[in-house]
Amino acid sequence: MAVNAALGRFLPSSATKPATIHKAMHYSLFAGGKRMRPALCLAAAAACGGKEQEAMPLACAVECIHTYSLIHDDLPAMDNDDYRRGKLTNHKVFGEGIAVLAGDALLTQAFEIAAKCRSWPRYSHQDIILELAKASGSLQLIAGQVADLEGEGKKISVSQLKYIHERKTSALLCCAVRLGGMSANCTAVQLKALTDFGYNVGLAFQIIDDILDVTQTSEQLGKTAGKDTAAQKATYPAIIGLEKSRRIATQLTERAFAALKIFGGKAVALEALATYLLQRDK
Ligand code: IPE
Ligand code: IPE
Ligand code: MG
Ligand code: MG
Ligand code: MG
Repeated sequence: MAVNAALGRFLPSSATKPATIHKAMHYSLFAGGKRMRPALCLAAAAACGGKEQEAMPLACAVECIHTYSLIHDDLPAMDNDDYRRGKLTNHKVFGEGIAVLAGDALLTQAFEIAAKCRSWPRYSHQDIILELAKASGSLQLIAGQVADLEGEGKKISVSQLKYIHERKTSALLCCAVRLGGMSANCTAVQLKALTDFGYNVGLAFQIIDDILDVTQTSEQLGKTAGKDTAAQKATYPAIIGLEKSRRIATQLTERAFAALKIFGGKAVALEALATYLLQRDK
């Protein structure tokens, strides 16, 4: 896959000193994730008439941030998971200290990749870096993770739950889509459409993740199923039930499709991904 090859080029090899940290970074990055955020980034670029090679560094930067967020999410101090992407979690193999550092290093790597990539007439380096910083910072991804932790064992409202999901997951997915558009020097109208698409698909993505935690096996998911119920996490199925959760995910996907109208027939790859994300079973 082109994304794996590009990630391999952007990262120091696993033999680079200090080898432990580079082995740990490679371990999680190449553990077999679905690469949905890079795929969305490349598909958004295609919808705007862009080239894959222009979007690729940004697709890889987002995947580095995503992988860091998973390594930290799995730590005993957070969700305490033993399996991820069908393998033992990073801290189970390398220990907690190295897992924390591998996450830190992947987050930093993302900004190095973005800093090295080119800029576009409508989007400066500053715009690109700001996109990544905002989506992963304490008002978005981290805000969602904080509220997720603080919501454990508590009765929370649907609007609080939406707040969590918008931030912990939708923000980075939306960022992936927007960066794809920016790498194709998209217009303001196109960027707005991509933002609507990314927001809706991103929110649907986390609702489906919640549903799969209840309905699938650990083998199927490559991570421990049923963890959300055990940890009394605030999830859509727990708060509004499975059927209503599925209906909302479908509605959000329909809204995402509607946002793509302005692209005429050019957003086929984004449409295919939105359909896959709704129907996925892992
Ligand atoms: C899992 O993301 C964490 C969430 C934000 C729901 P993915 O389901 O995309 O995980 P990988 O990358 O395929 O392992
Ligand atoms: C993870 O949400 C969100 C981030 C890592 C930012 P979850 O905790 O639901 O993800 P899984 O189920 O462990 O993959
Ligand atoms: Mg979590
Ligand atoms: Mg988790
Ligand atoms: Mg989950």
